[in-house]
Parts: sequence; C-alpha cells; structure tokens
Amino acid sequence: MDFSKKRFYTIAHRGASAYYPENTMSAFKAAVDMNADMIELDVLLSKDNIPVVFHDERLDMKTNGSGLVCDYTLSDLKKLDAGSWFDAKFKNERIPTLREVLEFSRNRILVNIEIKPEVVTGKEESGIVELVLDIVEELDMEEVVLISSFDYRVLERLSKRENTIKSALLYEQVQSHGREPSRLAKDYKIDAFNCSRQQLTDNWVSQLNINKIPFFIYTINDEHTMKSLIQVGAKGIFTDKPDVLNKVVGEVIKKAV
Ligand code: G3P
Ligand code: MG
Repeated sequence: MDFSKKRFYTIAHRGASAYYPENTMSAFKAAVDMNADMIELDVLLSKDNIPVVFHDERLDMKTNGSGLVCDYTLSDLKKLDAGSWFDAKFKNERIPTLREVLEFSRNRILVNIEIKPEVVTGKEESGIVELVLDIVEELDMEEVVLISSFDYRVLERLSKRENTIKSALLYEQVQSHGREPSRLAKDYKIDAFNCSRQQLTDNWVSQLNINKIPFFIYTINDEHTMKSLIQVGAKGIFTDKPDVLNKVVGEVIKKAV
C-alpha cells in the first residue's frame, strides 16, 4: 500500500458498521457503496485454523451462538446468524472468512486486516500471521492490504517473514513500556502508527508529523473530531460512518485548497 497516493484515507471500521452488522459482507458492501477508501476487519482463527472475520473472542454478543470462536470449526461457525443481534432483517448474515472478504475487495477497496491478539485466539503461536500472509499472497493482494495488531509479537513475526505488505502498530500501553511512537516505529519496523483519539497527545502528533510516520486514529463518528484530526495531519480515520467522514473530508480539503 503506497500511502503517498492519497492525502487522507476514509476507513470503514468493521465495514459501515453504524448501519449494518459489523464485520459482515453487507457492512463491507455498504462501505464500497459509500466510497470509503479502505475497510477495516478483525481476524481470528477457527478451530480448524481458518482465518475468519469477527471481532469478539466470544460468539455470544454478536451471533446466536455461544462460547469461544476458536472452539468452532468453520463449518459450524457458518451455521450461525451474525446479523439478528443488529436487526432481524439481517438474519441471513454469516461470519465471513478472510478469503471471502479479500476476494470481494479485490479491485474495489483497500483492506486493513487487524490480527487479534494471540491470547484472544486461545492459542500460543497459533500461526495466524503465516496463515493470513499465505492468503494475501495467494490472492496477490500484497499492495492493497495493510496489516495491524495490538499484539506486538504479531508485528515481530510479520517483519521476520519476507514480504512487501505494509504494517501498522496499534498502540498498547503494557507492551510499549513507555516507548514513544517514533521509537516503536523503529523497534517494530512498522509503516504506520494507529491509536485511539484518547491516547493521541499533541506531543505525539508533532513527533509523528516530524518523523513523517502516517497515523490513523480510531474510532471517530462525530464531525467535529473528524475535522480536527484531518487538520492536525492524521493520514486516516477509522469510522463506523464512512459517508459522514467523506462529507467532512470534502469540506476540510476543499477549504484548504
Ligand atoms: O484497528 C482499529 C480498531 O479496530 C481497533 O480496535 O477493538 O475496534 O478492533 P477494535
Ligand atoms: Mg479492529
């Protein structure tokens, strides 16, 4: 992914998840229809080691199943209803695999694959990084994918395997041991720095801008915060409302010209 291609990226967080059940095909299709630049999705492993797109460790809140995702095979996960929790009209939504979402996204939209921390998968050294990279490479989508994680071991494994895929660190306090963003960028050889609005300080903003490290902020749904982050130089924003963010981007960037 070449970040110099665009001044700013509208990233649909778990798809257009304010309007559709998160991390489902309908949320990703809507993000494309709303002209988002990128979709963000969360990846976990099924019991039979298939990367699936789902945020929570447990199935209980966002499907009609219960228990840990990693205790179910893909074929069992596919039987679950992943849409009714949001609205009964989405009862046919299924948990998508990473492969399915990437195949849909090809030539349509960029993809940020967030690999969930290993503790969430319930397995040490599950091989999730290698399994994700295998799929991205097999589909020849290295240039349209950004991989991120809160788990810094994931970033270490990414940098060890020869690949051209861009990576981003999702700031996590305990593993950071007081290191600043520019230090973390060097230590983990990452291409972008991601954090929440609450974590971002003025000092970090200057440091990231001076060191030309692209930074992406989550998860912003109000216009005022969107505007201020674009103005201070954020390279992109994760939002559940890509239509709203695109409107704001149009206004701010038009004004700046
Ligand atoms: O990658 C940005 C954001 O998705 C990180 O938090 O919990 O929504 O996956 P979460
Ligand atoms: Mg995420």
